[in-house]
Amino acid sequence: MKLVAVNGSPRKAGNTSLMLKEIVALAEKKGIETKYFDLADMHISDCKGCQNCKTNQACVQKDDMTSIVEAMQASDFVLLGSPVYMGDETGLMKCVADRLYCLLAEGDGPGNYKTRLAPGKKVMLLMTCGDPNGDKLYNYILVRYFRLLIKLLEFEDLHSFIIGGVNPNADVRKMNQAKEAMKEADRYLTV
Ligand SMILES: Cc1cc2nc3c(=O)[nH]c(=O)nc-3n(C[C@H](O)[C@H](O)[C@H](O)COP(=O)(O)O)c2cc1C
Repeated sequence: MKLVAVNGSPRKAGNTSLMLKEIVALAEKKGIETKYFDLADMHISDCKGCQNCKTNQACVQKDDMTSIVEAMQASDFVLLGSPVYMGDETGLMKCVADRLYCLLAEGDGPGNYKTRLAPGKKVMLLMTCGDPNGDKLYNYILVRYFRLLIKLLEFEDLHSFIIGGVNPNADVRKMNQAKEAMKEADRYLTV
């Protein structure tokens, strides 16, 4: 079994990464092979909207997105993490979400796509944010990602967490909400 984690926080040692690394460690304990990407270290351009990927298999842009796509194709679990920035995911993560368009082949008729991902993959989306009510306030982000990941890319299942009230200068792992999220992630990573 394989898991790929993608950190969309520009703070490579920030709270989002602390949570992602805990989940990666849980996966490794279960014998799952893991890969971890820090988007802050990568060069990924915006989608050009050229639509070439609708008829050809791959994106025309040869940048670091290729390794993320390849790792996703090879993984059973995908773990996406981002802080909330101005009410949404970070620009780093949005750029990756847009580029995932290359995993959608043209379907039958306008707005219909066929996923290029193999069936049976599971995905976790983890967000951290400062507002203590973030888990309710930012639910719309989860709705957007549900449509992208389940309806379009056809992941088999999505489990999402928003950890609210996170102080950038404190360790999120000490928060009860984070401890609960870790227990849930542990159960989710059944092999
Ligand atoms: C540019 C910026 C915008 C932010 N916007 C929001 C926001 O809209 N809502 C919120 O609850 N927290 C917001 N925050 C707080 C972060 O989401 C929070 O501190 C998060 O845990 C940071 O994750 P990190 O430690 O991985 O960087 C913002 C922080 C920054 C730096």
